[in-house]
Amino acid sequence: MLTFLRSVRKCASVCESARKKIGVKHRTAHSRTNQCKILGIETSCDDTGCAIVDDSGNILGEALNSQQEIHLNHGGIVPPVARDLHLKNIEHVVQSALKNANMKLEDVDAIATTVKPGLSLSLLVGMKYGKKLALESQKPFIPIHHMEAHALTIRMVQKVEFPFLVLLISGGHCLLAVARNVDDFLLLGKSRDDAPGEAFDKVARRLKLRNRPNFCNMSGGAAIELAAQQGDPLSLPFPAVMSHHRDCDFSFAGLKNKARRHIIDQEENFGVGEDGIIPGVHDVCASFLLAVAKHLCRRVERAMEYIELKCLLPPSNRVLVVSGGVASNKYIARMLGVVCREMKYKLAIPPPKLCTDNGVMIAWNGVEKWRAGIGIAQNIDEVDIEAKCILGKDISLDVAKEDLKCDWIKEKILLAG
Ligand code: KG4
Ligand code: ZN
Repeated sequence: MLTFLRSVRKCASVCESARKKIGVKHRTAHSRTNQCKILGIETSCDDTGCAIVDDSGNILGEALNSQQEIHLNHGGIVPPVARDLHLKNIEHVVQSALKNANMKLEDVDAIATTVKPGLSLSLLVGMKYGKKLALESQKPFIPIHHMEAHALTIRMVQKVEFPFLVLLISGGHCLLAVARNVDDFLLLGKSRDDAPGEAFDKVARRLKLRNRPNFCNMSGGAAIELAAQQGDPLSLPFPAVMSHHRDCDFSFAGLKNKARRHIIDQEENFGVGEDGIIPGVHDVCASFLLAVAKHLCRRVERAMEYIELKCLLPPSNRVLVVSGGVASNKYIARMLGVVCREMKYKLAIPPPKLCTDNGVMIAWNGVEKWRAGIGIAQNIDEVDIEAKCILGKDISLDVAKEDLKCDWIKEKILLAG
């Protein structure tokens, strides 16, 4: 207990001196006045990740253990299985990241760890381990919001200044927000049901894409993207999603169910057996991908109109950042690129490796917080996980209140790229 109290006191005083050194609340990604090396731990879902990143955005060491293969075999993520795998791997992953960096724990300035949102059982493993490291090494602990980390990863690799518009699309989340500062977000809209990655995963599973050798080790989203390249996106029409809701919320359950019904019909019509795949599989993938991409584009367009109306971004510097696992989809990126071109925005997407869950983005978020002097735990004992936690201040009702009828970019233009 005494050691613990001493550690807490030491943490608090290190935080205080860090804050004094930094002085101001907000710095840009490229003011490198406060050197630091932060160790980041990610366990919010099914990947155990760790990295050490410095204030210049250099990845000094990293390690990632993906559970994808195991969960693909279980037909999805089973939380206790994910927890057990995190428990089994976390020590090794953290030690490997330190070894790759040729560093010891005492060489880092702080331990950053995802504590929200995510699967409770998974988050708990990372948080407990991160706290243990912080207490053992007497380093400050920085609790991290997983979605904030996705949103700010781009600033590690590109000069993107606040404020900017961000679309986060992954297996667990779908949201649009204005990032105003390291810890200041305005939430414009989020998914009312599934996330796009989840919809991709379920449709891919229903199509039994895993039974084809070239898709068997891929995530559902990546498999659909690859299969779609050989299909006709206009072959299976999907209805426009939420066209009567003039807001920035998303919904993917309707698209997923329509795809599911079509697959069942086709299986019956063609007498496809238990492990068989329907003949028009590529067309289904291409049409489903187009429907998802179009829905994302429409919501982004409305967000841009709302931003214009409320002057939320300076006209001279309008950037759309896209991140999360689904952001590695080239087809979706191309269509969002068209929206950006037409609406006079720059499009910024981190490299695919940094779009999916990893320890680097957590370490980088720790760097951002460290430099800004915010979010460093004063009392490590009071930090807890939060399975559900929105990003920033929810202004989605205000977006809906504006009832913005957009002058949509024509589908022909979106498709032409
Ligand atoms: O961000 P992430 O690694 O984990 C979550 O926080 O959810 O995202 C994983 C999701 C999965 O649903 C996967 O199917 C999807 O990202 N994904 C893709 C692609 N690669 C991964 N979706 C569409 N196209 C891709 N190329
Ligand atoms: Zn994620």
